[in-house]
Amino acid sequence: MRLPVVEAYVPPGGARPVGAEPAPLAPGTSCVMCDGLYVKANGELPCWCDVGEDLILDVLTPQKLLQPDYDLTNHPRIQEIRRAFQHDQRYPFPELCGRCAMVETGGQPAGELTRSRLAILHVESSWLCNLDCPLCIPKAERKRLKTSPYHVEKDTWVALIHNLRMHGVEQVDVLHFEGRGDPLMHPHLAHLCQMFHVVYPLTTIMATTNGNFRFDPALFESGLNHLRISADGARNESYVQYRRDGDFARVTAFMRDAAAARRELEHPEIVLEWKYILFEWNDSDEEMLEAYELAHSIGVDLSFCLTPWAGKSLRFDQASLAEKLSELMPRAHNRPTRHVELGLDAGS
Ligand SMILES: C[S@@+](CC[C@H](N)C(=O)[O-])C[C@H]1O[C@@H](n2cnc3c(N)ncnc32)[C@H](O)[C@@H]1O
Ligand code: SF4
Ligand code: SF4
Repeated sequence: MRLPVVEAYVPPGGARPVGAEPAPLAPGTSCVMCDGLYVKANGELPCWCDVGEDLILDVLTPQKLLQPDYDLTNHPRIQEIRRAFQHDQRYPFPELCGRCAMVETGGQPAGELTRSRLAILHVESSWLCNLDCPLCIPKAERKRLKTSPYHVEKDTWVALIHNLRMHGVEQVDVLHFEGRGDPLMHPHLAHLCQMFHVVYPLTTIMATTNGNFRFDPALFESGLNHLRISADGARNESYVQYRRDGDFARVTAFMRDAAAARRELEHPEIVLEWKYILFEWNDSDEEMLEAYELAHSIGVDLSFCLTPWAGKSLRFDQASLAEKLSELMPRAHNRPTRHVELGLDAGS
């Protein structure tokens, strides 16, 4: 397994001389952790899912979350991050932040260290996965690499929601089930959504899955607003090059069943999105057009994304992809993504 080698990182422009102070950041530099939280299936609270995935700020338990003086949204480690960016104009973890995709610029230079609103709550409902994609955690290693529980436990979830309410969090803009496993491996994902939705009905709830499952209509009665299906290809032979152990027919059946359930349950507002990562083996005009037609016939939105890593499409960059889509596939989306380090063999 190849995890990020923090010590070996040399910033653009060369290493800083020993003892020299780093230059202050531009005012308004910030990162997703200032207004967001990422919770893993076993309760770990990492510094988001990019290079900070192994920097565990705390481990959540129901007991901790139910303590009256434990305020998750304004956890001292999160306040440290806010203070560093917004008040001191420095990176909280220079060796990591300097190469983290989650750094943002152009925000407000300063703000309160405490919050009553979360922009994003990212939850890894399950650490396990039914597929074995080559740049992700190897299927056979998953249980060795992390301690259990492998699925978010009900007690932890209830205590987490209670913690947010107890400490006056009025709004959570987005709850996203994703992480480094597949959210649908959780045996009760619909129930997790439902419990959250009852308390925060205005939150946009989304989940990103590989779609190699039987579709459960209960998901569309749970408050879920956006279901994103990662399927990279429009033909089985190219699809399985990355989505090992997957089956393209199973994914298209999942999408069809989801589209039918959305109709039958009368939830036209639910977004169904097919996320297609462009690799060198699935980026021909012909195959992209096949996906475009298939997406239209099933009734799902189609988004194409680029990856910076091994196998990446050599045909496209953001500009040429945008041009190709406007020329041939005007209803498809070009979704620039901020890439997480999946933790393995991430060299391109
Ligand atoms: C680790 S996956 C977990 C969610 C789900 N199992 C899936 O694959 O969509 C998290 C995100 O990484 C994306 N991803 C997987 N492999 C990738 C790659 N080689 N390059 C860029 N993104 C990738 C997925 O599409 C998904 O949005
Ligand atoms: S920029 Fe730094 S603080 Fe923010 S998520 Fe990345 S590693 Fe964590
Ligand atoms: S990228 Fe998603 S589908 Fe592929 S192995 Fe990782 S968690 Fe599973």
